[in-house]
Amino acid sequence: MSRPRILVTRKLPADVEARALSHFAATLNPDDRASAREDILANTQGKDGLLVTVTDRIDAALIAALPASIRIISTFSVGYDHIDVAAAQARGIAVTNTPDVLTDATAEIALLLILGAARNAASGMATLREGRWKNWAPTGMLGTELSGKRLGILGLGRIGRATASRARAFGMEIHYHNRHRLAPELEAGAHYHTDIASLFSASDVLSIHCASTPETRGLINRETIALLPHGAIVVNTARGDIVDDEALIEALASGRIGAAGLDVYNNEPNLHPGYLNLPNAFLLPHLGSATLETRNAMGFRALENLEVFFAGKTPRDLLHP
Ligand code: DGY
Repeated sequence: MSRPRILVTRKLPADVEARALSHFAATLNPDDRASAREDILANTQGKDGLLVTVTDRIDAALIAALPASIRIISTFSVGYDHIDVAAAQARGIAVTNTPDVLTDATAEIALLLILGAARNAASGMATLREGRWKNWAPTGMLGTELSGKRLGILGLGRIGRATASRARAFGMEIHYHNRHRLAPELEAGAHYHTDIASLFSASDVLSIHCASTPETRGLINRETIALLPHGAIVVNTARGDIVDDEALIEALASGRIGAAGLDVYNNEPNLHPGYLNLPNAFLLPHLGSATLETRNAMGFRALENLEVFFAGKTPRDLLHP
């Protein structure tokens, strides 16, 4: 039987591409051109499946224009907000993602952001690099200690729980809100809040771990920011569109929010320029899953989903309607 034909939209780690070439008739993107929708459409002709990433906007119009030969979209990401899953499923196209394998890497970045925001890492680094560090001062650049502080987790899923377990090691008390309370073994002593208002008012640090959905988009806004304790820290490793940038920038500038640690943004990579001049914004360029171990694992998982699908079986990460 001839090998399934797949389009891989971005350059992937070498071992992942080698496996793609050994299992599939794979079209790769060695120059890593950001794939414009015209490129995707032109290159999907004659293909059986797509391996896409968070940078590919697979909306309903693009899905409608895909050739009939496309039977599966496998995304190299845990998030699938860049894909109109309902439109794909309505066309009988299967969609899979890569959960689990990026949990630890993303939780590590969440901790980096929490620490960086709490301890003035952004302004400390700028002070050094710009030659402004004159001497050590007893009252200079004072941050906030994590020990004994309350960490509010919005979305205690896999990544939220991995973040919580690391934060416990720093002596933080864990609070969370999910639509449904978790079983005690998953809560691991975390305090459950039935609503956002209650969670926010109990969060010295708020870390966002929920998916981007119509319900969560813009959830961090002027009204909800006002619920946080004065000087609270906001950390986001989930998706940029959960935050109303204008509201957060205004709160950071006024000191209403003490600091923010952000890895994801609206309109990446063109984040709101207002963040860039804020000394209390510790910013990273969407590095959550950016380790070779994790990117390999994501690639192998995305390929495994394709292999299982084309073998006529149900991929373990199939998104169900
Ligand atoms: C994902 O997998 O959704 C991440 O945001 C990519 O780093």
